[in-house]
Amino acid sequence: MKTEELINTATALMAGDKGLLAMDESTGTCNKRFEEVGIPQTVEYRRAYRELIVTTPDLGTCLSGAILYDETIYQSTKKGDLFIDVLKKAGIIPGIKVDEGTVNMANFPGEKITEGLDGLRQRLEKYYDQGARFAKWRAVITIGEETPTKGSIEANMHELARYAALCQENGIVPIVEPEVLMDGDHSIKKCQKVTEKVLKMLFKQLEKQKVDLRGIILKPNMVLPGLKSPKQASIDKVAKATVSTLLKCVPPTVPGIAFLSGGQPAELATAHLNAMHVKYKGKLPWALTFSFARAIQQPAMETWKGLDKNVKAAQKLLYERASLDNAARRGEYTPDMEQANKPLILTEK
Ligand code: G3H
Repeated sequence: MKTEELINTATALMAGDKGLLAMDESTGTCNKRFEEVGIPQTVEYRRAYRELIVTTPDLGTCLSGAILYDETIYQSTKKGDLFIDVLKKAGIIPGIKVDEGTVNMANFPGEKITEGLDGLRQRLEKYYDQGARFAKWRAVITIGEETPTKGSIEANMHELARYAALCQENGIVPIVEPEVLMDGDHSIKKCQKVTEKVLKMLFKQLEKQKVDLRGIILKPNMVLPGLKSPKQASIDKVAKATVSTLLKCVPPTVPGIAFLSGGQPAELATAHLNAMHVKYKGKLPWALTFSFARAIQQPAMETWKGLDKNVKAAQKLLYERASLDNAARRGEYTPDMEQANKPLILTEK
């Protein structure tokens, strides 16, 4: 195992006040998000959108890493520069989503299992040669009346551990992402209980598969009430529930935790991260940062609308969102920072 390389990559990903950008939406997910804001769903629009992201000026001052997808890792800017090279030049470590999405789990109604272990060793070798130094695999856990079941948690966490072992064998830092979904009307307490169960099972499975915890990044959900819960929680309550759950479950040898945003409004995801840093400054064994997709990209995507003339305004928003997340990582974010520099949005074709 390339232990030193793994530790160095994981350390670099968690450096300073930086965080990660998940720009790894599968073709289906990217098209769905384009459709919602009226952008044509073609390979060229997807490429142009990713070019907008990777060429955002000064993005490297905010981000340590960016997660690509199989389609994007081989794509280039209009000028012909591979996205992966543009990222490296900006000081951003390229990563790659390697799971192949979720499907219904046989014998477990209402629950999902992630696909993609077959042939993964060969794909990882290819991605390493292409320049990827970290990877991502997302498992989803659904809260419902009868779910999650022990069987589905165990199978999903076992897969995450097998994926992590294969990544480390190939010098690639695995981001392990066990996402407890926000869908539903469950309470924050329920989310906390489920997240704790899931994380405990995850670390049990990682140990069984002999994964070196010094060379992984954990990407969990924050502990939140369901999106349809009648009782939403205060920012402080979310910060406390999230960190206390992580303290119970995540060994101190793990170098870093980078949260997904999970469908929270961008400002709220930033405020939650900030509150964790304000409350627990200097008291945590691991670094705590962001690995958001929607909570960084959404305002920029809505502003771009697929129009060249909106590229600059969208890039400004993307940079602004990422730098607000840097402020949150320092525990220095305040909501009034949101008001500054509202961009010009041009809607006409
Ligand atoms: O797998 C999920 C993404 O990496 C994070 O996306 O921040 O929109 O939840 P999100």
